[in-house]
Amino acid sequence: MAYEYKELGLSNTREMFKKANLEGYAVPAFNFNNMEQMLAIVEACAEMGSPVILQCSMGAVKYMGKEITPLLAKGAVDRARAMGSDIPIALHLDHGPTLDSVKECIEIGFSSVMIDASHHSFDENIKLSKEVVEYAHKFDVTVEAELGVLAGIEDEVSSEHHLFTEPSEVIEFVSKTGVDSLAIAIGTSHGAHKFKPGEDPKLRLDILKEIEKKLPQFPIVLHGSSEVPAYYADMIREYGGELSGAIGIPASELRGGAKSGVAKINVDTDGRLAFTAGVRKILATKPKEFDPRKYLAAGMEEMKSYYKTKIVDVFGSESAYKKSNK
Ligand code: G3H
Ligand code: 13P
Ligand code: ZN
Repeated sequence: MAYEYKELGLSNTREMFKKANLEGYAVPAFNFNNMEQMLAIVEACAEMGSPVILQCSMGAVKYMGKEITPLLAKGAVDRARAMGSDIPIALHLDHGPTLDSVKECIEIGFSSVMIDASHHSFDENIKLSKEVVEYAHKFDVTVEAELGVLAGIEDEVSSEHHLFTEPSEVIEFVSKTGVDSLAIAIGTSHGAHKFKPGEDPKLRLDILKEIEKKLPQFPIVLHGSSEVPAYYADMIREYGGELSGAIGIPASELRGGAKSGVAKINVDTDGRLAFTAGVRKILATKPKEFDPRKYLAAGMEEMKSYYKTKIVDVFGSESAYKKSNK
């Protein structure tokens, strides 16, 4: 079934980013793969009055199915409205690998897409990103592209080392492609192991500043920005999981960026950790429990309450819109 995103009640990211840059906060972009994660995200954001980008990798779309994914996003909009909140909600393709993947997602109701051609040459990246912009803008769908390469595993893209974004390239990239937002590499990376034990978990905020000078008020995106709270790593271990040497990005490193040009910050791992910790705890402490609603609700509650604190500590996006009254 094909949908236009506007009929699902979704928004693209254009106005969201304009307001975020003007008012000095970043929009949370949280990944989801199922109904429980979607509910945790939308309820946290509606209760805080924060705009939200619900994002899915192609792997997530494959997992939920093309028929279900847009309807879960519609469900998120309906849930926020039923809670009395007017937050805008986007459905965004995370790390789209090809023009075909972008077309497929726009066809089923995505309001925003990322084309991740950052592992190609500069010229190839420009060519593919421009093609995506020309296609997506016909449907009023906004486009994110990436310049520079993050270490860690991306969906269908993997890189061992960082290739920080070169500030001297950003003006040419943005003007030649026409993208609506730009993801940059300044030392963040995907997954739960962003730094080695003993390493100083610092971002190259000097590169971010240089880029902001070249692209004033342009929406900058940070991927790989989970904090990986020790609290959840400990909880996962305490209840039988294995997770060692997990280190994320300190909130203090991200908060400054969110106050200036960073309009979107991507978080997936933190939600996975909180959810898993909640599920592990209930299964370990209530061994007789076998109703999925009980143990999945425990994961959902943990993820929701953690995201509510993160909206204040990292994004600064609380009260940007009407909070829920229920
Ligand atoms: O950046 C990648 C996201 O965390 C999505 O991960 O490909 O496992 O869905 P995934
Ligand atoms: P984390 O793995 O740090 O949560 O990053 C998620 C991300 O960048 C999704 O695109
Ligand atoms: Zn990412």
